[in-house]
Amino acid sequence: MNIVAIGTGYVGLVTGVCYASLGHSVVCLDIDAVKVAGLQDGQLPIYEPGLDGLVQEAVAAGRLRFTTDYDDALNGAELALIAVGTPTEADSRRANTKFVDAAFDAILAARRSGPLSVVVKSTVPIGTNDRLQARLDASGANTGTASIHLASNPEFLREGAAIDDFMQPDRIVVGPRDGVAAEALRRLNQRFIDEGVAYVEVSAASAEMIKYAANAFLATKITFINEVASLCERVGANVEDVAHGIGLDQRIGSAFLATGPGYGGSCFPKDTLALVDTAQVEGSPVRILEAVIDVNEARKREMATKVIDALGGMDQARGKTAAIWGLTFKPDTDDLRDSPSIAIIPMLQQARIKVRAYDPQGMAGAEALFDGLSYAASALEAADGADVLCLVTHWPEFVSADLDAVRKRLAQPAMVDLRNVFDPASMKAAGWDYRSLGRPED
Ligand SMILES: NC(=O)c1ccc[n+]([C@@H]2O[C@H](COP(=O)([O-])OP(=O)(O)OC[C@H]3O[C@@H](n4cnc5c(N)ncnc54)[C@H](O)[C@@H]3O)[C@@H](O)[C@H]2O)c1
Repeated sequence: MNIVAIGTGYVGLVTGVCYASLGHSVVCLDIDAVKVAGLQDGQLPIYEPGLDGLVQEAVAAGRLRFTTDYDDALNGAELALIAVGTPTEADSRRANTKFVDAAFDAILAARRSGPLSVVVKSTVPIGTNDRLQARLDASGANTGTASIHLASNPEFLREGAAIDDFMQPDRIVVGPRDGVAAEALRRLNQRFIDEGVAYVEVSAASAEMIKYAANAFLATKITFINEVASLCERVGANVEDVAHGIGLDQRIGSAFLATGPGYGGSCFPKDTLALVDTAQVEGSPVRILEAVIDVNEARKREMATKVIDALGGMDQARGKTAAIWGLTFKPDTDDLRDSPSIAIIPMLQQARIKVRAYDPQGMAGAEALFDGLSYAASALEAADGADVLCLVTHWPEFVSADLDAVRKRLAQPAMVDLRNVFDPASMKAAGWDYRSLGRPED
């Protein structure tokens, strides 16, 4: 099929490139001319493992190109995927759909030929598809052969594992508004349908709701285990054993039961807020999710307190140096959006702690987000002379670090491990003052 992916961010670029690698002919479109020029030059705007090679192959095979021009992209296209951002609106919990609306208006205004299915992949408030349909009807653009057929098709990929998630999806959820869009989406995904991937065809509103409900549930599961971890610290239980013990129950499942510094990233924080907003507007509050959001915010503050405690408390900590390993919200991405580090580091700085950070991919974007943070060129350099090391993101290079070498660089062999990467007993035996989450320290 001839398809257009609108927005070349984490979702649009990965989706566009992956459909090209499956044999579709894809144009990736973005209004950011610098991004598009870079892509035309072979430079990717994001870090995502495996993406580089797929882009090169698809471009070389003539199945992928990049443009800023809607007329050029849509001429001859059968399907357009809208994958632009939907950030939280300023001073509100609502998801801002202005980029989706702008992309849709640009599609309506563009030169088109033949029926075009317009598929909203962005995570949008429930009812957005209905609203776009009303906009389409009012525009009078849906006449003649160049008709437009709307659908919802939420995206579930995880940054850092986006290509695998695309190629081996748990399910594909589509909400076509008519037969033309339904047929186009089936053709687009025929390979997955043939492989037996669950293909969930529902109304557009249900598809939109599935995306929010999925993220809300996952955020709740993470937050639940985080609170259990805090309680484990009080009662002398081990959260890892508890997670294992409950995860074996098939009704619960073992995924998303790893305790950590609180969820972050480009999706969970904004999507939980947006669902709370929709629920309040509709007069059907999701109180459980309101609590999840509050608990998650508090969780990040607790993490900073753990570092301050490791330095001997507020008074002792002043003037000391903390090394931070990891700024991104998870490994294998350069995405810093709503990362726990953004909450933790300023709290340490407020306590007059000097902070030096290292992240394998996140440092380029960090300068715009942090004030007064110094950066190290390597994990070892970050540790140099620091009084405590705090592991925030479990990048593989931290997990496999030579801890003896790290310990020698530190002024004090103290570590606060916010991902429970290391074994408390071995760390203690090796002379570390080691603190982690929800596990007895000895
Ligand atoms: N990042 C994820 O892991 C993920 C996963 C599932 C769903 N989502 C959802 O997918 C959507 C996109 O997320 P993302 O992280 O890829 O966003 P992103 O911010 O990385 O990229 C969005 C891109 O859209 C471009 N853009 C904005 N307005 C445009 C317009 N009118 N025309 C063309 N391009 C335009 C921007 O320049 C930018 O390159 C969001 O709704 C998000 O919630 C994201």
